[in-house]
Amino acid sequence: MGLAGTTAWEAIFDAGKLKASQTILILAGSGGVGLMAVQLAKNAGAHVITTTSGKNTAYVKSLGADEVIDYTQTDFSEVLSHIDLVFDTLGGDNQRAAFKVVKPGGRVISIVETTDQAAALSSQYDVNFEKINARPDKQVISTLADMFGSKKLSVRIAEDLPFTVENVRKLHRKSEAGHVVGKLILNVN
Ligand SMILES: NC(=O)c1ccc[n+]([C@@H]2O[C@H](COP(=O)([O-])OP(=O)(O)OC[C@H]3O[C@@H](n4cnc5c(N)ncnc54)[C@H](OP(=O)(O)O)[C@@H]3O)[C@@H](O)[C@H]2O)c1
Repeated sequence: MGLAGTTAWEAIFDAGKLKASQTILILAGSGGVGLMAVQLAKNAGAHVITTTSGKNTAYVKSLGADEVIDYTQTDFSEVLSHIDLVFDTLGGDNQRAAFKVVKPGGRVISIVETTDQAAALSSQYDVNFEKINARPDKQVISTLADMFGSKKLSVRIAEDLPFTVENVRKLHRKSEAGHVVGKLILNVN
């Protein structure tokens, strides 16, 4: 939870420079990092749009998403425009499509990859692009802990299993399938 929260914080506030009243598109708001980003952005006063599948729509709305796009039904790049910041947690075609919906001078911040086309698209659409790797930060962790304590942040536990070799395999397979909603826990107690 610390890594997911720190990653979301550094992507949307440090690299993304998100401000109140701006509009952010979070790709995969139901993922471990995305669910933190939705809450942090909403708490900061931004207008929050996110993508996920229909089964997760109610969940991401409960976190504060103002608009939810079901990626199995709708291509976000065909219905959105003038976005200040896209937070990319998916990469690939989603990242390439993100450039089309950002206003000139806006940003696409990825935690996944720099696609081969990122530089050309950045120049074509006059959009700032950065791929970041999260760094542990005492102040950010402390702020996130305070937000948990005051219930401004919540985390859904997708699975909480004892730390065994079989459970490590099981949760790795589950994570790699790409449809976990929330966090997977291996409990060492
Ligand atoms: N750079 C860094 O420092 C850093 C730090 C942490 C993580 N990461 C990376 O960030 C990425 C995301 O991590 P995560 O833990 O947040 O992922 P995750 O929890 O595995 O994400 C799963 C979620 O993504 C949704 N999803 C899948 N395909 C989608 C699509 N096409 N459009 C919208 N939503 C979609 C799924 O919803 P459905 O079931 O509805 O499909 C599911 O809820 C990973 O690649 C991870 O390695 C990087």
